[in-house]
Amino acid sequence: MKPSIIVHGGAWDIPDDLVEAHLKGCETAAERGYDGLVNGESAVQAVVEAVAVMEDDPVFDAGVGSFLNQSGQVELDAMVMEGSSLGSGAVGALQHMRNPIRIARKVLEDTSFSLLVGDGALRFAVEKGFEPCTEEDLLVGHQLEDYREFLRTGVLGTREFFEGGCDTVGACAIDTDGRVASATSTGGIPRKPAGRVGDSPLVGCGAYADDQAGAASATGWGEKIMAVLLAKTAIDALRLHGDPAEACTEAVTTMKSRVDGLGGIIMVDSKGTIGYHHNTPRMAFGFVEGKTGRRKKAIRA
Ligand code: GLY
Repeated sequence: MKPSIIVHGGAWDIPDDLVEAHLKGCETAAERGYDGLVNGESAVQAVVEAVAVMEDDPVFDAGVGSFLNQSGQVELDAMVMEGSSLGSGAVGALQHMRNPIRIARKVLEDTSFSLLVGDGALRFAVEKGFEPCTEEDLLVGHQLEDYREFLRTGVLGTREFFEGGCDTVGACAIDTDGRVASATSTGGIPRKPAGRVGDSPLVGCGAYADDQAGAASATGWGEKIMAVLLAKTAIDALRLHGDPAEACTEAVTTMKSRVDGLGGIIMVDSKGTIGYHHNTPRMAFGFVEGKTGRRKKAIRA
């Protein structure tokens, strides 16, 4: 079958001066994933590579450029899920690694576990041959300024973060064999307490994938996403309605009405149709839908 991929670069009030960089980053990631898919890569490989492109791009809150926590550290969460076996691999509160999504993939493929956190996740990564980096390698200037501002002024409310800024990245794909996968990666919310793990590495919250329905990846306020299992809720709505756009809208509407959450979701279904929705001012996303040839990068649904 014709493959498809959709990526997101976070759902928040993306400032005008960062719009171009977000569009470019999403387009580059979607095209990287799609090129791999048309050349026979699996959906898992495509979503991991697409997300790694965004982790390497300092404009996004994932990998390099992630928000600092209250202790001035970068702690990363990431997950990949594949829809044939419902298998998943994830890392939480992982420090000193540039590409947590690649380590999440190792958890999926090389272990019988789903989620490794903190020091254990770091030890696992080093055992698998990943080179640790310094805190400074992951830092970009505006995150350091943001952290210094926090030290001066104290913690902002979580709602303000999402009305202001959060940038989780994610990807969903279907490959030429009809297998789906999703991946999500984040530095989490700015100025989170040390050890806080969000929705992104949790099955059914930050991502879900099932070959019998489709794959979804979420972005936004983690605690609210967890409360409604946003990615699984979206896939359940897809099973019911059969339309990815409708399913994404229903899931985000449920999150808003039940817990007043803010965020967004992207999806590809088992026929290769793309869907997306958000209730934040903006969400950066990009996709290539193989069966229709539709290609899009946008900052708003
Ligand atoms: N959705 C990202 C986070 O809350 O950590």
